[in-house]
Order: sequence, then structure tokens, then C-alpha cells
Amino acid sequence: MLIAGNWKMFKTRAQTEAFFAEFRPPPGTRVVVCPPFTSIDAAVGRGVPVYAQNVHWEREGAYTGEVAAEMLLELGVEGSLVGHSERRQHFGETDHAVALRAQAALDAGLRVVACVGETEEERQRGDTEAVLRAQLSVLDAHRNLIVAYEPVWAIGTGKTATPELAQEAHTFVKSLIDVPVLYGGSVKPDNAEEILRQPDVDGALVGGASLEVGPFAAICEAAARVAKL
Ligand code: 13P
Repeated sequence: MLIAGNWKMFKTRAQTEAFFAEFRPPPGTRVVVCPPFTSIDAAVGRGVPVYAQNVHWEREGAYTGEVAAEMLLELGVEGSLVGHSERRQHFGETDHAVALRAQAALDAGLRVVACVGETEEERQRGDTEAVLRAQLSVLDAHRNLIVAYEPVWAIGTGKTATPELAQEAHTFVKSLIDVPVLYGGSVKPDNAEEILRQPDVDGALVGGASLEVGPFAAICEAAARVAKL
């Protein structure tokens, strides 16, 4: 069971230090945090593995605004998200670029959480499986690869997928690629346990509720309870 906190574009270095002054990951579950690039070195060495939110596919080069895997490894970063829907929606990230990022990061020795998920319109059109199939078709299973299923309509909206819907999507993802699958989208302390109890849900990628110590610790504790079942 893995709980990953995606801090998105939140938390300065000072706020990161304040978080770790209070946060103690509960035993019985794996926890990682994904701070913005500028807060990574304030997060490394605080007892919780640190992942980046994105990583470039080249080792170095003229790619303004990008960061390479080697640069992250030098800071003590252990993994990276790729293909988050906010990258796809706001920054034109394509399936091809996501594949390049994932492969380069894995080759460099980082763990990778590759994010997939359908928009509300795609679900209403009945295209969920086609979208997931296309997004996953560019990824190959790897021992350090995890997929995060994050339905776009559930991100930051308070509209969580029902446990049944999450289970159904995770089963479909696992029929296409044999890797652990995290659920993401409005995971909160009061819904985490029922989602994490689904047999094909291997953990959660948590946005808003990972920013405060209390709710994030409560989600990690829910994962530890489920892992014991
Ligand atoms: P929320 O938990 O804020 O809905 O965000 C989910 C997410 O995008 C995690 O990557």
C-alpha cells in the first residue's frame, strides 16, 4: 500500500520544513511526498521518500524550464510523477512525451508514477476505456513503474469516484499493464478507507488532503489499517 502526497504548486521551503516538523508517517504503509522543485531539498532526509512532479527525458540540453533525472537523483529524489492530468490539460503534455519521460526516468533509476484518467465528457461519451487504453499503450511494465488512475472529473472537485467505479477502472488498467495502481481524485480521510479496501486499489495519490499534516496522516493510517486486513 502506497500513499503519495502530490503537493502541486503549494509549499515554500519554510512551509515544507513546518510540515516535516510535525509529520511522522505511521508504520505499516509506504508514504512519499512530491513537493514543487524548489522545496525538494527541504523535504529530502526527513524520513519520507521524495518524488518530483515531473522529469525531462534528456540528460541535459536546451530545454528551458525542465529538470533532468540526474539532477533529481543528485538531490536524493527517489522517483517522479509523469503525465499528471494538469500537465496534460494546461501544458500540452502528450502521451508520447509522457512515455519519453517515464522511460528516461526509469532508465536513470527513478521510480515512476504515471498518471492516467478520463475527463467528464469522455466518461459521459462512454470513452473511458478507450482513453485509458490510449494513455497506457505507450507504457511498458517495469518493476519501478506504478500507474495512478485519476479521473479528471474527481480531481480537486470533491467528487470522488465510488469505490465500485474505482475498482472497475483499476481492474481494466491492470488488464492492460501489470503494475500496482493508485487511485487519485478527492481522496480524503473520510473516504480513503473504503476506496483503499478495493482489491485492485494499491494505494492513493492525494492532492489537497496531503497539504495538512492531520488529514494526510489520517489517510496514511487508513492505508495501514487496510494493509493489515
Ligand atoms: P485532489 O486530491 O486535490 O483531488 O488531487 C488529486 C490529484 O490530482 C493528485 O495528483
